[in-house]
Amino acid sequence: MKIFLDSADLNEVRTASEWGVISGVTTNPTLVARAGAKDFKAVVAEICRLVPGGPISAEVISNDTAGILKEARELAVINPQVVIKIPITPVGLAAVKQLATEGISTNVTLVFSTAQAILAAAAGATFVSPFVGRLDDIGANGLDLIREIVTVMDIYQYPTEVIAASIRHPQHVVEVALAGTHIATVPYKVLRQLFEHPLTVQGMERFQADWEALQGK
Ligand code: E4P
Repeated sequence: MKIFLDSADLNEVRTASEWGVISGVTTNPTLVARAGAKDFKAVVAEICRLVPGGPISAEVISNDTAGILKEARELAVINPQVVIKIPITPVGLAAVKQLATEGISTNVTLVFSTAQAILAAAAGATFVSPFVGRLDDIGANGLDLIREIVTVMDIYQYPTEVIAASIRHPQHVVEVALAGTHIATVPYKVLRQLFEHPLTVQGMERFQADWEALQGK
């Protein structure tokens, strides 16, 4: 399973990239607003530079196919790493199909059902993003959705990769990995938490103390 960072904050992207564990980044309009990234295209370009070679999702906001295509082409020229993130709607999938013929990668987002994921794959989406946490929030089971979508993609050998999105805590990361997702896109805070274990801290303190005792400190 690959790990993407779910953030538009350049400091978070820089730090997570330095850790060596992320191979892509996803953004959405909320994350861009939260990061105060007024010059969206400049931020996308900088994220591409910070995560060389990794797919970087940039979301469109138009509600018609022509508008989506215009935004998509403008974003795609920033860097070949850019992936156009498009909500699952009929006009959105029409754009996905067209962008596939132009060699532009897409990430179909706001996916909450297996049926929606099948449509995205049929349209030629490069990635599909089912939202685990938001389903859990309404009492549904986000992990079951990941399992089902991965199974369908596998049965029919769709090249579309599944990005488990809306990850809320470290256990989500483990569970979507066990569910067979290709990628988990993880917020910075959760990514940091993944490193943590009290026995690691305790072990490091003990190694340090024993080493210093040996040196007579
Ligand atoms: C990523 O593609 C999604 O936009 C993101 O994971 C949504 O997360 P949220 O449900 O925490 O807003």
